[in-house]
Amino acid sequence: MIRRVAVVGAGTMGAGIAQLCAQSGFSVKVHDPRPEALAALKARLKKGLETGVLKGKLTPRQADAALQAVSEAPALADLAGADLVLEAAPEDLALKQGLFAELSERCPDALLATNTSSLSVAAVFARARAPERALGVHFFNPPVAMRLVEMVRAPQTSPEAFSAAWDFVLSGLKRTPVDVKDVPGFIVNRAMRPYYVASQRLAGRALGVAAADEACRTLGGVPMGPFELMDLIGLDVNLAITKSLYAALGRPERFAPPAPQEALVARGATGRKAGLGFYLYDRGRPVGENPDARELLLEGGAAGGAAFWDSLRGALVAEAERVVSEGTASAADVDVAVKLAMNFPKGPFEWRREGTAARP
Ligand SMILES: NC(=O)c1ccc[n+]([C@@H]2O[C@H](COP(=O)([O-])OP(=O)(O)OC[C@H]3O[C@@H](n4cnc5c(N)ncnc54)[C@H](O)[C@@H]3O)[C@@H](O)[C@H]2O)c1
Repeated sequence: MIRRVAVVGAGTMGAGIAQLCAQSGFSVKVHDPRPEALAALKARLKKGLETGVLKGKLTPRQADAALQAVSEAPALADLAGADLVLEAAPEDLALKQGLFAELSERCPDALLATNTSSLSVAAVFARARAPERALGVHFFNPPVAMRLVEMVRAPQTSPEAFSAAWDFVLSGLKRTPVDVKDVPGFIVNRAMRPYYVASQRLAGRALGVAAADEACRTLGGVPMGPFELMDLIGLDVNLAITKSLYAALGRPERFAPPAPQEALVARGATGRKAGLGFYLYDRGRPVGENPDARELLLEGGAAGGAAFWDSLRGALVAEAERVVSEGTASAADVDVAVKLAMNFPKGPFEWRREGTAARP
Protein backbone atom coordinates (compact mmCIF):
# COMPACT_ATOMS: atom_id res chain seq x y z
CA MET A 1 0.00 0.00 0.00
CA ILE A 2 1.55 3.29 -1.07
CA ARG A 3 0.95 6.25 1.24
CA ARG A 4 4.24 8.10 1.55
CA VAL A 5 5.82 9.29 -1.67
CA ALA A 6 9.34 10.67 -2.04
CA VAL A 7 10.10 12.89 -5.02
CA VAL A 8 13.75 13.41 -5.90
CA GLY A 9 14.47 16.62 -7.82
CA ALA A 10 12.35 19.77 -7.43
CA GLY A 11 12.63 21.05 -11.00
CA THR A 12 9.98 21.25 -13.73
CA MET A 13 8.93 17.60 -13.48
CA GLY A 14 9.61 17.00 -9.79
CA ALA A 15 7.49 19.97 -8.71
CA GLY A 16 4.66 18.87 -11.01
CA ILE A 17 4.81 15.26 -9.87
CA ALA A 18 4.83 16.39 -6.22
CA GLN A 19 1.74 18.52 -6.85
CA LEU A 20 -0.08 15.68 -8.58
CA CYS A 21 0.69 13.24 -5.74
CA ALA A 22 -0.25 15.76 -3.04
CA GLN A 23 -3.55 16.72 -4.63
CA SER A 24 -4.33 13.01 -5.03
CA GLY A 25 -4.09 12.62 -1.23
CA PHE A 26 -0.56 11.32 -0.75
CA SER A 27 1.96 12.60 1.72
CA VAL A 28 5.00 13.82 -0.24
CA LYS A 29 8.59 14.60 0.68
CA VAL A 30 10.68 16.38 -1.92
CA HIS A 31 14.46 16.24 -2.01
CA ASP A 32 16.72 18.54 -3.98
CA PRO A 33 20.37 19.23 -3.14
CA ARG A 34 20.03 22.86 -4.26
CA PRO A 35 18.52 24.92 -1.41
CA GLU A 36 17.22 27.47 -3.92
CA ALA A 37 15.26 24.73 -5.73
CA LEU A 38 13.62 23.68 -2.46
CA ALA A 39 13.00 27.32 -1.55
CA ALA A 40 11.17 27.84 -4.86
CA LEU A 41 9.11 24.68 -4.46
CA LYS A 42 6.35 25.95 -2.16
CA ALA A 43 5.71 29.03 -4.29
CA ARG A 44 5.62 26.83 -7.38
CA LEU A 45 3.17 24.42 -5.74
CA LYS A 46 1.01 27.26 -4.49
CA LYS A 47 0.77 28.69 -8.00
CA GLY A 48 -0.01 25.28 -9.50
CA LEU A 49 -2.68 24.53 -6.91
CA GLU A 50 -4.26 27.97 -7.34
CA THR A 51 -4.53 27.26 -11.06
CA GLY A 52 -6.25 23.97 -10.16
CA VAL A 53 -8.77 25.90 -8.06
CA LEU A 54 -9.35 28.49 -10.81
CA LYS A 55 -9.98 25.69 -13.31
CA GLY A 56 -12.48 24.08 -10.94
CA LYS A 57 -10.38 20.91 -10.53
CA LEU A 58 -9.80 21.45 -6.80
CA THR A 59 -11.64 23.21 -3.99
CA PRO A 60 -9.64 25.83 -2.03
CA ARG A 61 -9.68 23.40 0.88
CA GLN A 62 -8.22 20.57 -1.21
CA ALA A 63 -5.54 22.91 -2.52
CA ASP A 64 -4.65 23.91 1.02
CA ALA A 65 -4.50 20.28 2.17
CA ALA A 66 -2.27 19.43 -0.80
CA LEU A 67 0.13 22.24 0.08
CA GLN A 68 0.31 21.00 3.68
CA ALA A 69 0.95 17.45 2.47
CA VAL A 70 4.27 18.41 0.88
CA SER A 71 7.40 18.75 2.97
CA GLU A 72 11.00 19.48 2.07
CA ALA A 73 13.78 16.95 2.44
CA PRO A 74 17.17 18.68 2.28
CA ALA A 75 19.02 15.35 2.67
CA LEU A 76 18.42 11.98 1.01
CA ALA A 77 18.36 10.49 4.52
CA ASP A 78 15.11 12.43 5.14
CA LEU A 79 13.36 10.16 2.61
CA ALA A 80 13.67 7.02 4.76
CA GLY A 81 10.27 5.43 5.29
CA ALA A 82 8.95 6.23 1.81
CA ASP A 83 6.77 3.61 0.09
CA LEU A 84 7.56 4.93 -3.38
CA VAL A 85 10.43 7.03 -4.72
CA LEU A 86 9.80 9.00 -7.90
CA GLU A 87 13.07 10.37 -9.23
CA ALA A 88 13.08 13.47 -11.46
CA ALA A 89 16.72 14.56 -11.18
CA PRO A 90 18.74 15.75 -14.21
CA GLU A 91 19.05 13.40 -17.20
CA ASP A 92 22.52 12.13 -16.31
CA LEU A 93 23.14 8.39 -16.02
CA ALA A 94 25.96 8.50 -13.47
CA LEU A 95 24.01 10.93 -11.29
CA LYS A 96 20.86 8.77 -11.34
CA GLN A 97 22.87 5.60 -10.70
CA GLY A 98 24.51 7.21 -7.68
CA LEU A 99 21.17 8.41 -6.37
CA PHE A 100 19.59 4.97 -6.58
CA ALA A 101 22.65 3.25 -5.08
CA GLU A 102 22.03 5.38 -2.00
CA LEU A 103 18.21 5.50 -2.11
CA SER A 104 17.91 1.73 -2.43
CA GLU A 105 19.80 1.43 0.88
CA ARG A 106 17.96 4.22 2.66
CA CYS A 107 14.50 3.13 1.48
CA PRO A 108 14.78 -0.68 1.66
CA ASP A 109 11.03 -1.30 1.28
CA ALA A 110 10.19 1.32 -1.34
CA LEU A 111 9.26 0.92 -4.98
CA LEU A 112 11.85 2.85 -6.96
CA ALA A 113 10.90 4.74 -10.12
CA THR A 114 12.81 6.94 -12.53
CA ASN A 115 11.22 9.57 -14.76
CA THR A 116 14.02 9.32 -17.32
CA SER A 117 13.01 10.09 -20.91
CA SER A 118 16.02 8.78 -22.77
CA LEU A 119 18.21 6.60 -20.54
CA SER A 120 17.93 2.84 -20.22
CA VAL A 121 15.86 2.16 -17.10
CA ALA A 122 17.87 -1.00 -16.40
CA ALA A 123 21.09 1.06 -16.53
CA VAL A 124 19.68 3.70 -14.14
CA PHE A 125 19.26 0.94 -11.52
CA ALA A 126 22.57 -0.82 -12.25
CA ARG A 127 23.97 0.08 -8.82
CA ALA A 128 20.72 -0.22 -6.84
CA ARG A 129 20.15 -2.85 -4.20
CA ALA A 130 17.20 -5.18 -5.02
CA PRO A 131 16.47 -3.65 -8.46
CA GLU A 132 13.52 -6.00 -8.99
CA ARG A 133 11.41 -3.32 -7.23
CA ALA A 134 12.51 -0.68 -9.76
CA LEU A 135 10.94 0.56 -12.98
CA GLY A 136 10.41 3.62 -15.16
CA VAL A 137 7.39 5.82 -14.51
CA HIS A 138 7.54 8.38 -17.30
CA PHE A 139 5.28 11.38 -16.78
CA PHE A 140 4.66 13.99 -19.46
CA ASN A 141 4.95 17.72 -18.99
CA PRO A 142 3.04 19.15 -17.16
CA PRO A 143 2.25 16.07 -15.04
CA VAL A 144 -0.86 17.65 -13.53
CA ALA A 145 -2.47 18.16 -16.94
CA MET A 146 -1.15 15.22 -18.94
CA ARG A 147 -3.04 11.98 -18.35
CA LEU A 148 -0.56 9.64 -20.00
CA VAL A 149 2.13 7.84 -17.99
CA GLU A 150 4.48 5.37 -19.69
CA MET A 151 5.19 2.51 -17.26
CA VAL A 152 8.53 1.07 -18.26
CA ARG A 153 9.26 -2.54 -17.49
CA ALA A 154 12.99 -3.20 -17.30
CA PRO A 155 14.20 -6.81 -17.58
CA GLN A 156 14.73 -7.03 -13.81
CA THR A 157 11.41 -5.40 -12.79
CA SER A 158 9.26 -7.90 -10.89
CA PRO A 159 5.61 -8.34 -11.93
CA GLU A 160 4.58 -7.42 -8.34
CA ALA A 161 6.48 -4.12 -8.41
CA PHE A 162 5.12 -3.30 -11.85
CA SER A 163 1.56 -3.98 -10.83
CA ALA A 164 1.87 -2.01 -7.56
CA ALA A 165 3.21 1.00 -9.47
CA TRP A 166 0.49 0.56 -12.12
CA ASP A 167 -2.25 0.61 -9.45
CA PHE A 168 -0.74 3.71 -7.89
CA VAL A 169 -0.79 5.57 -11.22
CA LEU A 170 -4.23 4.32 -12.29
CA SER A 171 -6.19 4.42 -9.03
CA GLY A 172 -4.05 6.67 -6.85
CA LEU A 173 -3.25 9.40 -9.38
CA LYS A 174 -6.15 8.76 -11.80
CA ARG A 175 -3.78 8.78 -14.79
CA THR A 176 -3.72 6.50 -17.83
CA PRO A 177 -0.77 4.09 -17.64
CA VAL A 178 0.56 2.26 -20.70
CA ASP A 179 2.82 -0.78 -20.53
CA VAL A 180 6.12 -0.43 -22.40
CA LYS A 181 9.44 -2.25 -22.55
CA ASP A 182 12.74 -0.58 -21.68
CA VAL A 183 13.68 0.52 -25.21
CA PRO A 184 14.96 3.85 -26.54
CA GLY A 185 12.17 6.43 -26.78
CA PHE A 186 9.62 4.15 -25.05
CA ILE A 187 6.36 4.55 -27.03
CA VAL A 188 5.76 8.21 -27.73
CA ASN A 189 9.21 9.54 -28.57
CA ARG A 190 9.82 6.54 -30.79
CA ALA A 191 6.45 6.16 -32.54
CA MET A 192 6.13 9.91 -33.16
CA ARG A 193 9.64 10.38 -34.55
CA PRO A 194 8.49 10.23 -38.23
CA TYR A 195 6.23 13.20 -37.51
CA TYR A 196 9.36 15.33 -37.07
CA VAL A 197 11.79 13.55 -39.39
CA ALA A 198 9.76 12.28 -42.37
CA SER A 199 7.85 15.56 -42.51
CA GLN A 200 11.05 17.40 -43.49
CA ARG A 201 11.62 15.01 -46.38
CA LEU A 202 8.00 15.10 -47.50
CA ALA A 203 7.46 18.86 -47.48
CA GLY A 204 9.32 20.15 -50.50
CA ARG A 205 10.03 23.72 -51.50
CA ALA A 206 6.92 23.81 -53.66
CA LEU A 207 4.58 22.92 -50.78
CA GLY A 208 6.30 24.72 -47.90
CA VAL A 209 5.74 24.24 -44.20
CA ALA A 210 2.55 26.28 -43.72
CA ALA A 211 0.61 24.28 -46.32
CA ALA A 212 2.00 21.04 -44.88
CA ASP A 213 0.93 21.98 -41.34
CA GLU A 214 -2.48 23.04 -42.56
CA ALA A 215 -2.97 19.70 -44.34
CA CYS A 216 -2.26 17.86 -41.08
CA ARG A 217 -4.77 19.99 -39.20
CA THR A 218 -7.56 19.90 -41.75
CA LEU A 219 -7.15 16.31 -43.02
CA GLY A 220 -5.77 14.67 -39.87
CA GLY A 221 -7.65 16.75 -37.30
CA VAL A 222 -4.44 17.13 -35.28
CA PRO A 223 -4.01 20.27 -33.15
CA MET A 224 -0.64 21.17 -34.63
CA GLY A 225 1.25 20.20 -37.76
CA PRO A 226 4.86 19.01 -37.40
CA PHE A 227 6.57 22.30 -38.22
CA GLU A 228 4.59 24.53 -35.88
CA LEU A 229 4.97 21.86 -33.21
CA MET A 230 8.76 21.68 -33.64
CA ASP A 231 8.89 25.47 -33.38
CA LEU A 232 7.00 25.22 -30.08
CA ILE A 233 9.12 22.38 -28.67
CA GLY A 234 12.35 24.03 -29.81
CA LEU A 235 14.16 22.75 -32.89
CA ASP A 236 17.29 22.15 -30.80
CA VAL A 237 15.48 20.15 -28.09
CA ASN A 238 13.64 18.10 -30.70
CA LEU A 239 16.83 17.51 -32.75
CA ALA A 240 18.68 16.25 -29.66
CA ILE A 241 15.99 13.59 -29.15
CA THR A 242 16.18 12.56 -32.81
CA LYS A 243 19.97 12.26 -32.57
CA SER A 244 19.84 10.20 -29.41
CA LEU A 245 17.24 7.81 -30.88
CA TYR A 246 19.14 7.61 -34.16
CA ALA A 247 22.28 6.51 -32.30
CA ALA A 248 20.46 4.20 -29.89
CA LEU A 249 18.60 2.38 -32.68
CA GLY A 250 21.72 1.74 -34.79
CA ARG A 251 21.42 4.72 -37.17
CA PRO A 252 18.41 3.70 -39.29
CA GLU A 253 18.15 5.89 -42.38
CA ARG A 254 14.55 6.88 -41.60
CA PHE A 255 15.68 8.55 -38.32
CA ALA A 256 18.70 10.37 -39.76
CA PRO A 257 18.77 13.91 -38.34
CA PRO A 258 17.13 16.08 -41.03
CA ALA A 259 19.38 18.55 -42.87
CA PRO A 260 16.88 21.48 -42.76
CA GLN A 261 16.56 21.23 -38.97
CA GLU A 262 20.34 20.85 -38.49
CA ALA A 263 20.94 23.97 -40.58
CA LEU A 264 18.28 26.02 -38.80
CA VAL A 265 19.62 25.05 -35.36
CA ALA A 266 23.16 25.94 -36.48
CA ARG A 267 21.85 29.41 -37.45
CA GLY A 268 20.14 29.89 -34.09
CA ALA A 269 16.66 29.51 -35.61
CA THR A 270 15.49 27.26 -32.81
CA GLY A 271 11.79 28.08 -33.01
CA ARG A 272 9.31 30.26 -31.17
CA LYS A 273 11.66 30.98 -28.25
CA ALA A 274 14.23 32.46 -30.67
CA GLY A 275 11.69 34.42 -32.72
CA LEU A 276 12.35 32.24 -35.74
CA GLY A 277 12.39 28.59 -36.70
CA PHE A 278 10.33 27.08 -39.52
CA TYR A 279 8.19 30.22 -39.08
CA LEU A 280 8.95 33.84 -38.22
CA TYR A 281 7.48 35.34 -35.03
CA ASP A 282 6.60 38.80 -33.90
CA ARG A 283 6.13 39.07 -30.12
CA GLY A 284 5.57 35.33 -29.93
CA ARG A 285 2.99 35.15 -32.73
CA PRO A 286 3.75 33.46 -36.06
CA VAL A 287 3.77 35.94 -38.95
CA GLY A 288 4.54 33.60 -41.85
CA GLU A 289 7.05 31.06 -43.02
CA ASN A 290 10.75 31.61 -42.55
CA PRO A 291 11.99 31.94 -46.17
CA ASP A 292 15.32 30.40 -45.13
CA ALA A 293 13.53 27.29 -43.92
CA ARG A 294 11.73 26.91 -47.25
CA GLU A 295 15.04 27.20 -49.10
CA LEU A 296 16.40 24.36 -46.99
CA LEU A 297 13.63 21.95 -47.95
CA LEU A 298 14.15 19.54 -50.83
CA GLU A 299 13.35 20.44 -54.41
CA GLY A 300 10.89 17.53 -54.63
CA GLY A 301 8.59 16.40 -51.86
CA ALA A 302 4.92 15.53 -51.76
CA ALA A 303 2.68 16.78 -54.56
CA GLY A 304 0.26 18.84 -52.49
CA GLY A 305 -1.12 18.87 -48.96
CA ALA A 306 -3.25 15.73 -49.27
CA ALA A 307 -0.31 13.69 -50.57
CA PHE A 308 1.85 15.10 -47.76
CA TRP A 309 -0.63 14.07 -45.05
CA ASP A 310 -1.18 10.63 -46.62
CA SER A 311 2.55 9.90 -46.72
CA LEU A 312 3.20 11.27 -43.24
CA ARG A 313 0.35 9.26 -41.80
CA GLY A 314 1.74 6.19 -43.62
CA ALA A 315 5.17 6.77 -42.01
CA LEU A 316 3.53 7.02 -38.57
CA VAL A 317 1.59 3.79 -39.14
CA ALA A 318 4.75 1.98 -40.31
CA GLU A 319 6.70 3.09 -37.22
CA ALA A 320 3.85 2.06 -34.91
CA GLU A 321 3.82 -1.37 -36.59
CA ARG A 322 7.55 -1.70 -35.92
CA VAL A 323 7.05 -0.81 -32.24
CA VAL A 324 4.42 -3.53 -31.89
CA SER A 325 6.24 -6.18 -33.94
CA GLU A 326 9.37 -5.66 -31.82
CA GLY A 327 7.27 -6.46 -28.73
CA THR A 328 7.72 -3.00 -27.18
CA ALA A 329 4.03 -2.30 -26.53
CA SER A 330 0.58 -3.43 -27.66
CA ALA A 331 -1.23 -1.75 -30.57
CA ALA A 332 -3.93 -0.56 -28.16
CA ASP A 333 -1.35 1.08 -25.88
CA VAL A 334 0.42 2.71 -28.84
CA ASP A 335 -2.89 4.28 -29.91
CA VAL A 336 -3.69 5.45 -26.37
CA ALA A 337 -0.18 6.87 -25.87
CA VAL A 338 -0.09 8.77 -29.16
CA LYS A 339 -3.58 10.21 -28.67
CA LEU A 340 -2.98 11.36 -25.11
CA ALA A 341 0.56 12.66 -25.62
CA MET A 342 -0.18 14.48 -28.86
CA ASN A 343 -3.86 15.25 -28.45
CA PHE A 344 -4.45 13.47 -31.76
CA PRO A 345 -8.04 12.42 -32.56
CA LYS A 346 -6.86 8.97 -33.61
CA GLY A 347 -3.90 6.69 -33.06
CA PRO A 348 -1.82 5.05 -35.82
CA PHE A 349 -3.69 1.74 -35.70
CA GLU A 350 -7.02 3.50 -35.92
CA TRP A 351 -5.69 5.31 -38.97
CA ARG A 352 -4.49 2.03 -40.42
CA ARG A 353 -7.94 0.44 -39.96
CA GLU A 354 -9.50 3.44 -41.61
CA GLY A 355 -7.11 2.99 -44.53
CA THR A 356 -7.42 5.31 -47.45
CA ALA A 357 -10.83 3.98 -48.43
CA ALA A 358 -12.69 6.47 -46.24
CA ARG A 359 -10.94 9.43 -47.85
CA PRO A 360 -12.51 11.22 -50.78
N1 LIG B 1 10.98 18.53 -18.84
C1 LIG B 1 10.26 17.61 -19.48
O1 LIG B 1 9.46 17.92 -20.36
C2 LIG B 1 10.39 16.15 -19.11
C3 LIG B 1 9.37 15.27 -19.45
C4 LIG B 1 9.46 13.93 -19.06
C5 LIG B 1 10.58 13.49 -18.37
N2 LIG B 1 11.58 14.36 -18.07
C6 LIG B 1 12.72 13.83 -17.30
O2 LIG B 1 12.55 14.23 -15.94
C7 LIG B 1 13.82 14.43 -15.33
C8 LIG B 1 13.88 15.84 -14.76
O3 LIG B 1 13.69 16.78 -15.78
P1 LIG B 1 13.27 18.30 -15.50
O4 LIG B 1 12.89 18.88 -16.80
O5 LIG B 1 12.36 18.37 -14.33
O6 LIG B 1 14.71 18.91 -15.06
P2 LIG B 1 15.00 20.23 -14.23
O7 LIG B 1 16.38 20.65 -14.60
O8 LIG B 1 13.89 21.20 -14.33
O9 LIG B 1 15.04 19.72 -12.70
C9 LIG B 1 16.03 18.87 -12.17
C10 LIG B 1 16.14 19.13 -10.67
O10 LIG B 1 17.00 18.17 -10.12
C11 LIG B 1 17.81 18.80 -9.16
N3 LIG B 1 19.02 18.02 -8.92
C12 LIG B 1 20.29 18.23 -9.35
N4 LIG B 1 21.10 17.29 -8.86
C13 LIG B 1 20.33 16.46 -8.10
C14 LIG B 1 20.62 15.32 -7.30
N5 LIG B 1 21.84 14.82 -7.21
N6 LIG B 1 19.59 14.76 -6.64
C15 LIG B 1 18.34 15.25 -6.73
N7 LIG B 1 18.01 16.33 -7.46
C16 LIG B 1 19.01 16.92 -8.14
C17 LIG B 1 18.07 20.17 -9.71
O11 LIG B 1 18.46 21.06 -8.67
C18 LIG B 1 16.72 20.51 -10.33
O12 LIG B 1 15.90 21.17 -9.39
C19 LIG B 1 14.86 14.12 -16.39
O13 LIG B 1 15.26 12.78 -16.28
C20 LIG B 1 14.09 14.34 -17.68
O14 LIG B 1 14.62 13.60 -18.76
C21 LIG B 1 11.52 15.68 -18.40
